[in-house]
This record gives sequence, structure tokens and C-alpha cells, in this order.
Amino acid sequence: ILRPPQPRPLAGKRVLITAGPTHEAIDPVRYIANRSSGKQGFAIAAAAQAAGADVTLVSGPVDLRDPAGVTVIRVESARDMLHRVEAALPADIAIFAAAVADWRVANEGEQKMKKTSAGMPPLQLVENPDILATISKLKEKRPPLVIGFAAETEHLIDNAKAKIARKGCDWIVANDVSPATGVMGGDRNTVHLLTHDGEEINVDSWPVMTKEQVAAELVAKIAKTVEKSS
Ligand code: CTP
Ligand code: CA
Repeated sequence: ILRPPQPRPLAGKRVLITAGPTHEAIDPVRYIANRSSGKQGFAIAAAAQAAGADVTLVSGPVDLRDPAGVTVIRVESARDMLHRVEAALPADIAIFAAAVADWRVANEGEQKMKKTSAGMPPLQLVENPDILATISKLKEKRPPLVIGFAAETEHLIDNAKAKIARKGCDWIVANDVSPATGVMGGDRNTVHLLTHDGEEINVDSWPVMTKEQVAAELVAKIAKTVEKSS
């Protein structure tokens, strides 16, 4: 079948994407996780690849196949994810779609924890490194366009605005992950794209779309921005 040549607006660009949840070990047989399916990050990787980019996808444990033509690096924990992201630099565009666990267990058991008469084991948590903030604050190796996600269940726009400032990223894709929306693990997403417009933060609210459509829109917006700045 003859198809017309597809436009490749991201040809020659290196795009780095994180996706999925992370797993934080409690002991050799147990872990802490979250409901992220990885679908949104995988869809963005596929869309960026289709736009001609050289794509590296660093993903936590998900039940998804590697998108064609994308370099996929599978990791478990937040710390693994950070190391593999750092090793994948430099990049022109970095998109942090992973639902990174905020905490890991401080006292990871070397053996399977057993029930004892002493009662339930106390789980001490420590904060994980913030991958998005770490990469946003790099000096020489900071990708020129750094995009984060903000998963919120309330005060979506205000929390997302605060996140742009706190993390030092350029754009945020904010989405409502309240259980009723079905976003976590589902096929659709309702997002608001926050971008810097000088001092102001511009909010673009998109209608409900499939995660593939969100990916295509985001990649189109990136392509427009990259075109303007080159
Ligand atoms: N993120 C990250 N590393 C972390 C935590 C978050 O890279 N340890 C990234 C996510 O991939 C996302 C963005 O930061 O792009 C925001 O994640 P989110 O969980 O919404 O924000 P947090 O800063 O963790 O704040 P909170 O969960 O308390 O709302
Ligand atoms: Ca978080």
C-alpha cells in the first residue's frame, strides 16, 4: 500500500520520556506501587517516534509492549529510574509522565518479613529523589524543553501552577486523577496544558480525549515550539 510521506517535524530531535509507576521494595516479595498503567507515557513515546524523533522511554513495571522504533529501558524503583534518565541525557525534550513513588521503604527487609507475636511491622518511609526537579535544575545538561505532569485530585490548576515553579520545568500537563474520572489505568484523559508565556502561565484546557489523542496534541504543540526556536 502506498502511503503519502508523513511529516516528521521532530526529525533529528532526541526525546526522553518516563512512564508508568515505580515499585519500591518492602522485602524480597513485596512492594509499594500505584495505579499508573503507563499508557499515557507510552502513547507520547509512540507519537514522538512517529514525528521522527529519536525516542528513549524509561518505564517502570507496566503491562505494555515496546512501541516500535523506541528505545525502551525498563526499571523498577524511582532511584533506578533517575539513574537511567541521567544516563540517557543529553536530550532536546524531556517529558516526565511517570507516576514516581514519592516514598520508598527506609528499612527494606533482606528476608521476607514474617508474622510475629510482636505485632505488625512498622514501615518507615523516606522520600524518593524527584526526577523531574533534578533534571529541570541541571546546568549544562538541562534539556531545552522540560515537561512534567501534575496528577491531582483537587485544586488542579493551582497545584499545577505551584508545581511548575517548584520543579523548574517549562510546561506541565495537569490531569484530574480522582477515582471517578477513571484516568488512572483508563484509556481517556482530560488535561490542561500549562505553559510559560513570559511571566504569565498560560492554561490551555483540552476536551476529554483518548490518551493517544492527548499524545498527538502534545507532540504537535512541541513540534510547533521547537520549529519556532530553531
Ligand atoms: N516526579 C518525578 N519524581 C518524583 C515525583 C514526581 O519525576 N519523585 C514527576 C512526575 O513524573 C510528574 C511530576 O513530577 O511529572 C509531578 O508529579 P506529582 O506526583 O504530581 O507531584 P509531586 O511533586 O510528587 O507532588 P504530590 O505528589 O505531593 O502532589
Ligand atoms: Ca507524587
